[in-house]
Order: sequence, then C-alpha cells, then structure tokens
Amino acid sequence: MIIHTEDLTKYYGCKLGNDRICLSVPEGHIFGFLGPNGAGKSTLVKMLVGLIHPTSGAGEVLGRPLGDTSARKRMGFLPETFRYQGWLTPAELLAYHGRLLGMEASQIGPATIDVMTQVGLADELRTKIRNFSKGMQQRLGIACAMLSGPELLFLDEPTSALDPLGRRHVRELLLGLKAKGTTIFLNSHLLSEVELVCDSVAVIDRARIVASGSLSELLTGPCEVEVFLAEPFRPAEETLAGVRGTLLESAPERLVIGLPDAEAIPALVAALVHEGTRILGVERRKRNLETLFIETVSEEQHG
Ligand SMILES: Nc1ncnc2c1ncn2[C@@H]1O[C@H](COP(=O)(O)OP(=O)(O)OP(=O)(O)O)[C@@H](O)[C@H]1O
Ligand SMILES: [Mg+2]
Repeated sequence: MIIHTEDLTKYYGCKLGNDRICLSVPEGHIFGFLGPNGAGKSTLVKMLVGLIHPTSGAGEVLGRPLGDTSARKRMGFLPETFRYQGWLTPAELLAYHGRLLGMEASQIGPATIDVMTQVGLADELRTKIRNFSKGMQQRLGIACAMLSGPELLFLDEPTSALDPLGRRHVRELLLGLKAKGTTIFLNSHLLSEVELVCDSVAVIDRARIVASGSLSELLTGPCEVEVFLAEPFRPAEETLAGVRGTLLESAPERLVIGLPDAEAIPALVAALVHEGTRILGVERRKRNLETLFIETVSEEQHG
C-alpha cells in the first residue's frame, strides 16, 4: 500500500474536517476520492501531503509517516486553488519549482519541456502566466505537479476548469502515467470521469468514509434490463419469477425488468423467447458512480 491511514481525524477548532478516516491505496492504482462540497476531500489530501497536521490518528505515505520530507520529494501535488505569479513565464515558474524540489539544474530544462508537452502547452513556455486562461493555468498546475516524475501524484480537482477535450486529454495523461507505474490520488466531482480512469474509489460524506472499494465491487449488484420487442407483449408472472425478475415498466413494445444481477440476463432472454415473443434488442442499464454517489451520500444535507 502506497497510502495507508488509520483513524485519521482533523478538527479545525471545533469544526470536524475528517472523522476517523481509514483507507489504503495500492501502488499503481488511480484512486478516486469523491464526495459533495465540504465533505472533507481537500482536508485529507492536505494531511497526506503534510500541509496540515492531523488532530489524531496516523498514516503512512510511501512507507513514511505523514509529513516526512523525504517522502514529500517523491510526491507531486496539484492543489485545488492555486495562483501562480502572473509576471513569470512557465519556463521560469517550473525552473523555480525544480529548484525547490532539489532537482539538478541540468535536469530542469528537459523535464520542463517534457511536462509542458504532456499537458499540451509546449508552445507557451515563454508566455507570461497572466495571459493564460483558467484552463491553461490548470494544465500548468498539472505540469508543475509532474515536474520531478513523482511516484505518487495528488490531484485535487484537476479538470474543474477544463473543457471536454481538455478533460479527455488529462484522462489520457493519467492513464499514461499509470502505465509507467505512477500512483494517482484524484479528488473529483466529475463522476463519469472518475469512472473512466479509476481502479478504486472512496466516497466521503460529512467527514466520514461512507463507501470504498474497487469500482467493479461497488458497481455490481441489482441491474435493470430494457427489452425492445417486435410486437406488444407482457410476460407471464411465472416467467419473470423463474428468473427472479421484476417488471419495472411495461410499454407495448418495451419492457424494463429488474434482475438480482447481470448473470440472470441470458436466462431472462431465453425465458421471454420461450414464452413466444420476438426480441429486437436488449440493453443493460448499468449501475454507475452517480447511482452509488446518490445512494451513499445523505440527502438531508443537500435536499
Ligand atoms: N482552514 C479551515 N478552517 C476551518 N474549517 C475548514 C478549513 N478548511 C476546511 N474547513 C471545513 O472542513 C470541512 C471540509 O472541507 P474540505 O475543504 O476538506 O472539503 P472538500 O470536500 O474538499 O469540499 P469541496 O468539494 O468544496 O472542495 C468543511 O466543512 C470546511 O468548511
Ligand atoms: Mg476541496
């Protein structure tokens, strides 16, 4: 495990930011940390990178206790809100960050070109940052976090300012980093995006973890199937009972049937055909992270 925490708790005065957080992130994973506004996502990331101290509990990152400076050198961090010096160019900014990271002077130039190319800003090395759009600044922030080739990358909402193409670009970038062995801790509200890249996730609500696991574990369970028919048909109750199905919607040429899991779909199709209907199509409505999020995050806070 590259990150492991035990009962990590943070109080800001008497305000609870994180409540007994226990989580583990395996090396090489893209880990998605989800939760509504104010739930405690940034608080956890700040404790993991050593920017704030926990009130109680313990944790290890890269095999070292929280706040350890030798581990910090092996991490990259894109904070949620950042503002770079507008009078600098990216080349100057990255040279400054490279020096802070203790990189050799001869490494900084090539590393700058490499990360700026990866985030699609290779032509802007000498443009003043004050002339950058919000999305360009966010890409620059990602380049900064990647500069020293960290083993572990913390990205707090890395695509909040990006357009759909930019988001796709960052998604590909993250998958490329993962392929090279980088572990990524990703805070995000963009559930469909997390679903596309993350191996495992945790959901935090009001300072506490309310769900965690691999995506495949969390998204298995009851499923719904939409069946398109050549002519109006309503299946007999015994047919559905035989496959533990429930009729959720019935239109003349379309049925929506709930099943205990996806394994039951072939038996359902066979039973319907056996009963004499002609099927034009079957579509599985997948559980997705949005369903999980809405089911696990308390509604009273937002309702
Ligand atoms: N410096 C601080 N002082 C006091 N309270 C704080 C401080 N930072 C965060 N909090 C509180 O801790 C809770 C968790 O905040 P945090 O920033 O971790 O949430 P978040 O999940 O990152 O939210 P968002 O999605 O809006 O970024 C919130 O109730 C917030 O008001
Ligand atoms: Mg936050």
